[in-house]
Amino acid sequence: MEIEVNLVPPEKRGSLPADPLNIGFGTVFTDHMFTMVYSDGHWHDARIGPYGPLALDPAALVLHYGQGIFEGMKAYRRGENVFLFRPEKNIERLNASARRMVMPEIDPEFGLYSIKRLVSIERDWIPQLPGTSLYIRPTMIATEARLGVKPAKEFLYYVILSPVGPYFKGGFNPVKVFVSDKYVRAVRGGVGAAKTIGNYAASLLGTQEAIRLGYSQVLWLDAIERKYIEECGTMNVFVKFDDELATTPLDGAILPGITRDSVIHMARDWGLTVNERKISIDELIEGVRSGKVEEVFGTGTAAIIAPIGELYYKGQAYVVGDGQVGELTRRLYDTLTGIQSGEIEDPYGWVVRVE
Ligand code: COI
Repeated sequence: MEIEVNLVPPEKRGSLPADPLNIGFGTVFTDHMFTMVYSDGHWHDARIGPYGPLALDPAALVLHYGQGIFEGMKAYRRGENVFLFRPEKNIERLNASARRMVMPEIDPEFGLYSIKRLVSIERDWIPQLPGTSLYIRPTMIATEARLGVKPAKEFLYYVILSPVGPYFKGGFNPVKVFVSDKYVRAVRGGVGAAKTIGNYAASLLGTQEAIRLGYSQVLWLDAIERKYIEECGTMNVFVKFDDELATTPLDGAILPGITRDSVIHMARDWGLTVNERKISIDELIEGVRSGKVEEVFGTGTAAIIAPIGELYYKGQAYVVGDGQVGELTRRLYDTLTGIQSGEIEDPYGWVVRVE
């Protein structure tokens, strides 16, 4: 499919804020977006045009029943070099989410090509300082206007771009986490493994309560027994025991994170024993108490690697290690961000150049 390109005249374009480290996350958007429409059983009308509001029928199915999915990926720039990180994995996951939510898949090759074209056009929006990047948000929504609860037959796929600083205000510093045994994020057999919009709405109330108590994220437990740790905020979670790095298995309730997969890969490459296994909250708390748990951290595209310095569970706070960033956490963060930005040689073939 050809992409029709209609660019904003140069004198009407915006520009990257002067202080990208302080723009926060997802508050500023670039001049252009990619859009593509699905109807009559196929994708068509692929366009790159001005960023702007969507015209949606008030009965559009996404607004009523949540048939919507998205992805998060990043572009990095150093000098004239622009890189994406494992973008084919995001498109693969978008299509897996589409299958779960009864939405149409996109052609992986065309999906990547369209993202590269858009990022290339917007390359001057990519901040270059360490800790900054251009966040890419591919999104698919059901646009068909109808109130019957049925899979839609019409969809819009679009990609918007946002220059971002660190996801957390404190940058790469330990976050304090509230373990919720009241609210859950997802349940096996549900949609926890899909990157679908309702999962994020479902997390808001628990997070709000955690914030009120002075914690910035929620550590979610499994929905059935409230016994095993699943995700932390919008991140996958890892625990470094003295001789093992462990993370929750992909059992259908958690998102198959691309940063998660990259961390498993790197840690194994460095000779660590990495296990994808159930970790009970009791094992975690006991390990933190005894010192067997040396480090805990979250992983995600937005947050990259987020050290967890404190856990609050059943009325008590537990400091992880000395509450500071652990050695492995820092090594993973430095290596991963180095590879992503092209500053460290990529031994895994993860980085994709945008021309
Ligand atoms: C990401 O890590 O890219 C996410 O999608 C999390 C987010 C909802 C900000």
